[in-house]
Amino acid sequence: MKKLTDKLTDIMGAAFEKAGYDAALGAVRVSDRPDLCQYQCNGAMAAAKKYHKAPFMIADEVAAALDADAAEAVEVSVVKPGFLNLNLKPAFLLSCVQAVAEDENLSIPKVENPKKIVIDYGGPNVAKPLHVGHLRAAVIGESVKRLCRTVGNEVLGDVHLGDWGLQMGLIITEMKHRNPELPYFTDSTEYPEEAPFTISELEEIYPAASAKSKEDEEYKKEALEATHQLQLGNPGYRALWNQILSVSIADLKRNYERLNVSFDLWKSESDAQPYIPAMVEDLKNRGIAFYDQGALVVDVTEPDDKKEIPPCIILKSDGASLYSTTDIATIVERKKLFNPDEIIYVVDKRQGMHFTQVFRTVRKAGIVSDETGLTHIGFGTMNGKDGKPFKTRDGGVMRLSSLLDEIETEMKAKIRDNDNVRDEDTESTAEKVALAAVKYGDLSNQASKDYVFDVEKFTSFEGNTGPYILYTIVRIRSILEKAAEGDLAENLSAALLQPETDAESALMLDLAVFGSSIYEAYEELAPHRICSYIYQLSNDFNRFYHGTRILGEEDAEKRRSYLALLSVTLKVLEKSIDILGFDAPAHM
Ligand code: ARG
Repeated sequence: MKKLTDKLTDIMGAAFEKAGYDAALGAVRVSDRPDLCQYQCNGAMAAAKKYHKAPFMIADEVAAALDADAAEAVEVSVVKPGFLNLNLKPAFLLSCVQAVAEDENLSIPKVENPKKIVIDYGGPNVAKPLHVGHLRAAVIGESVKRLCRTVGNEVLGDVHLGDWGLQMGLIITEMKHRNPELPYFTDSTEYPEEAPFTISELEEIYPAASAKSKEDEEYKKEALEATHQLQLGNPGYRALWNQILSVSIADLKRNYERLNVSFDLWKSESDAQPYIPAMVEDLKNRGIAFYDQGALVVDVTEPDDKKEIPPCIILKSDGASLYSTTDIATIVERKKLFNPDEIIYVVDKRQGMHFTQVFRTVRKAGIVSDETGLTHIGFGTMNGKDGKPFKTRDGGVMRLSSLLDEIETEMKAKIRDNDNVRDEDTESTAEKVALAAVKYGDLSNQASKDYVFDVEKFTSFEGNTGPYILYTIVRIRSILEKAAEGDLAENLSAALLQPETDAESALMLDLAVFGSSIYEAYEELAPHRICSYIYQLSNDFNRFYHGTRILGEEDAEKRRSYLALLSVTLKVLEKSIDILGFDAPAHM
């Protein structure tokens, strides 16, 4: 499907050509004066210099050169000193909205060549509770996954669990100190079926161990040794590690479920470890990696580098592998298991250098082909109102679950006095609206930017917020329910009539560009574009709603047309929030 701006560009290009000018001058874009026109073409201004002619004359000639088909679609007016203002004609707008209504994919285009994409997002670490820092990875990643799927790609979301390295050695060491009699630490080969600890205990153990290791050299050595033993396959440690993993994963799944986030793959850092030895050997043998001051490194500099890119370290001088080694081995693994066309990482932007080094290494080594896409969507920090990374009141790291609790409580208070919501629905409604508040608050910002998590703003039912979008959806649903037009769903597009008012035209124009808006969001992997789109759509809908008697309209055909318009708007909004990863309650 062609974007509307492209169609209009074709139309204007043809007119420029017919009038004797370069077709490239016909570029059309969305108007920056929506009060005057929907689209604009400034080609005559540019042509004036090239052809030494008054822009107004050129614009006049171009407008006169429009062919009959074009003239049916768009109204072109010439404005001094030589602008071409474009407005879609009502009949054309109607046909665009009909096309959306008739298409089960709501006119969202599909990619020509579907790709197989792995999205690496979430990135939680075993035995550490999810904190607010994990929110963005989960929320943005989930939406990018859905967006890539919507346009027809085959997508696998991978949580890429952090379950390797010193953190595991620390936990094992601390458990050993506390309960040396447990069979994991003795000669026993029988281990309990049930893990002898709960998730809360685990979550308390890690910070305790981490703090101790910073003060106590001996303890740190012990933890390093435990890490090493685990990696060598010590059976007791392995058994314990497996149980830590399953307790942790069960808890993580609960937490992600609450966020409406789900992964196709629960792969982890440890899964990549078996690929390391052969990968390292290969890099060494082919001279891609070399020893520098004892460490094995790959030089990843490129001639055009503007800033210094340090070498990618593959092995430390003590032979230990690192975060980058694991990420390279994970690419080897993904290539083998899934052979993806693209891997997208949704990870904090402060890890940008790490990914540059990893990507360059795998390209240099030919681990992936030149055609394989490697993309890092680096997101900014979620800050508190003080502009500093979001903290609890006492300055600690806030758990994700506490943050959600807080927003849900806030929402419950708002919803309790709402007559539209039955008492027994308060809880579930508050959960849905709270999630929308959090997710939309995050997603409506360009991912790479830092943003301020402002509870009051995000939970407001007015303005550019999740609750406002949900409120609009619920409003439309309730009108449609009242109308109870049984057969409307099937005859939707047939019921639509040409727009009569500005408000109706604006709403229809929004609907007409739905497919291309989603596609553009996909091309930029930018969920915030969907948020801007639905915010404008909601505003335009509400303007139409406030200026139009819908159920009270006496002309039955008009009334049906309004309801059909509402119905398309609803579908478009529902589809959009589904891509963003939240849904609307029945009432609010
Ligand atoms: N667990 C890592 C962290 O907490 C994030 C992992 C991101 N994904 C990756 N393939 N490196 O920072």
